[in-house]
Amino acid sequence: MSDSSGLHATRLPGGRGEPIEITVDGERVACFAGETVAAALLAAGVPEFSRRGGEPRLPLCNMGTCFECGVTVDGVPLTRACLLAVSAGMTVETSRA
Ligand code: FES
Repeated sequence: MSDSSGLHATRLPGGRGEPIEITVDGERVACFAGETVAAALLAAGVPEFSRRGGEPRLPLCNMGTCFECGVTVDGVPLTRACLLAVSAGMTVETSRA
């Protein structure tokens, strides 16, 4: 499809991946293969991913530069949730407490 400027727009394929489950702070969370950990946590209603200076943190840039989405994934701390796709059985820990 092109507009009057002659530029072409392309849509990415739609749809979601297979339904899978991950564990977030000890609770099972349903999500879809192919989405990011950040998307899965936000869709699950996780209110904060971490705290710094006493302030709650959530994803900001969603492109890997700010580290506001840092969580522990399968034991690896400060994993940027916005860059990592979920996988079945993955364990995610926020620093909520
Ligand atoms: S939201 Fe900025 S690095 Fe993930």
